[in-house]
Amino acid sequence: MPDKDMALLQLKELVEEVTNCTKCPLAQSRTHVVFGEGNLHARLMFVGEGPGKDEDLQGRPFVGRAGQLLDAMLEAIDIKRAEVYITNIVKCRPPNNRVPAPAEARACLPYLRNQVAIVKPKIIVCLGATAAKYIIDPNFKITQQRGQWIERKGYYIIATFHPAAILRDPSKKKPAWEDFILIKEKYLAEG
Ligand code: URA
Repeated sequence: MPDKDMALLQLKELVEEVTNCTKCPLAQSRTHVVFGEGNLHARLMFVGEGPGKDEDLQGRPFVGRAGQLLDAMLEAIDIKRAEVYITNIVKCRPPNNRVPAPAEARACLPYLRNQVAIVKPKIIVCLGATAAKYIIDPNFKITQQRGQWIERKGYYIIATFHPAAILRDPSKKKPAWEDFILIKEKYLAEG
């Protein structure tokens, strides 16, 4: 079977599994599971924290205000949203947008690992401290350690501010923009 069809099949099976997931209490309060979306063979993957209200209602990642900012930042570096893959640490909305509890994140992380194994991106961007903590280092300090490449298991990984954090604190816009320039450079270099 061609690689492309194989990835589609594997991802479909995973969607089915995640859609029926009841491994943590977030399953009880969700409207939709937000699995993630994008190019099955994306070279660039973005990982956020977890769905918010709009994402929970629509079943799609980053479609609310933070998503609109992410779209604008992608457009500014001339990368189409459809080229990349976008997902989250947890696939169900934490009530009132609280940070996912460690047990919730741990229950959900195998799904992210499978997504990464199927899509095989070259670059993984952690959007915010939660993604960086679970993907890079549990003690990750987003303000100090963002914008630095890490190479692990053949993936280039970087963290930047979460778009929602930039909306709350516009002083984060400039450093986030600098990170997006780095991401674009790596994306071109790894083409
Ligand atoms: N914030 C996230 O971390 N993920 C989304 O999908 C939307 C908002």
